[in-house]
Amino acid sequence: MMKEIVPAPPAHVRNEAAAIQQLFHKNVVPSYARFDLTFSHGSGSYLYDVGGRRYLDMGGGIAVNVLGHAHPAITEALIEQSRKLIHVSNLYYHEPQGRLAEQIVNLIAPGKVFFCNSGAEANEGLFKLARKFGHDEGRFEIITTLNSFHGRTLAGISATGQDKVKKGFEPMVPGFRHVPYNDLDAVRNAISPATVAVLIEGIQGEGGLATATPEFLVGLRRLCDEQRMLLLMDGVQDGHFRTGRFQSFQRILENVPAGFLPDGISMAKSLGGGFPMGAIWIRAPYADLLGPGTHGTTFGGTPLGCTVALKILEVIQRENLADNARRMGDHLRKGLLDLVEKFPAVVCGVRGLGLMVGIELAPDLRNLPGDASRPQSGRVVNLLHNAGLLAVPAGANVIRLLPALNLKQAEADEALKMIESVVARLAT
Ligand SMILES: Cc1ncc(COP(=O)(O)O)c(C=O)c1O
Repeated sequence: MMKEIVPAPPAHVRNEAAAIQQLFHKNVVPSYARFDLTFSHGSGSYLYDVGGRRYLDMGGGIAVNVLGHAHPAITEALIEQSRKLIHVSNLYYHEPQGRLAEQIVNLIAPGKVFFCNSGAEANEGLFKLARKFGHDEGRFEIITTLNSFHGRTLAGISATGQDKVKKGFEPMVPGFRHVPYNDLDAVRNAISPATVAVLIEGIQGEGGLATATPEFLVGLRRLCDEQRMLLLMDGVQDGHFRTGRFQSFQRILENVPAGFLPDGISMAKSLGGGFPMGAIWIRAPYADLLGPGTHGTTFGGTPLGCTVALKILEVIQRENLADNARRMGDHLRKGLLDLVEKFPAVVCGVRGLGLMVGIELAPDLRNLPGDASRPQSGRVVNLLHNAGLLAVPAGANVIRLLPALNLKQAEADEALKMIESVVARLAT
């Protein structure tokens, strides 16, 4: 077995982290398997634990901290708007929600936007849209893909194509069928008289970073048109310029003649950069299906949240962060492919687009410390943490990098160096 070479933190640091973790163990529902890290603050792409140790954050709060930590533009927007108006409810109008909806429409295509608070809730909006669309014909079934992830609400886990999220919560909400990803024939064969929609991720985030092929997307559009079904995309993780374009389908299809559009898209995560926000965009012909009284949420699209989201869009556009995501993504991919060549017994592939990067681990790593009954991805992430880099497991064998879109080249190089140090040790 490989030996851990990270020095133990001093006693006072251990005590502070231990005291905080004790508060969790005593008072917080243990629904998350947390890593043994306790953070106090962050700046840009760095996070600091309670002992002052610095980590390069390549996980970005699971694709949330789109401008990094403590970005002054977000801080200012929060302060200024909270002096004016935080919340009024959706009984009334206010400017930030209208302006943010307009921006999202401009970034996708004619349609309308509904605001909510999370990715799961955004997908709930898509499910309700689909049910409303098919209601009068008795159609309600939604086809989703194996290895997908669509959130933790009851309908979210029913839609998700992974048994582990459903276990213990049966019976599932009826009306979801799962088919293999990128398999158009499987979708066609799963259509029943009750089918009303197809929901897919452009890049499967939790499921290991498989990317939809252009043929699958274009074929789905044709199939949905033929069968009068809605084509819905979950852009919660792969959206908001992470791939180099606002939505991943725009990147996947950028060399394919124009014309593709889904009918609905869910968003969350990076939309608020850490301020909890979700949204769905609905294509114009269906944008008024959810009429007054059919759907709602107290906190959806508050003046505060929308002002932060508008500021984030402004910074992304002003600083050309979509291009940066593409460039830094390519840079990371190139460095990681070198590692695949150098250490094929440890890393065997690189997946994803832009700053949604997946590192595929070779099966059965020999020198990997930790509980052998745990997935390899989490155990390798532990080693990366020890080396000073935060990353996120995706499935059992893939490690995800989802850093801030303003990641600097020096930071990407630092990340590659740390990853190489861990991979090289695993190769010995
Ligand atoms: C693709 C996708 N959809 C939905 C969700 C659920 O989002 P939330 O955790 O904000 O409810 C996630 C979260 O990881 C996701 O990756």
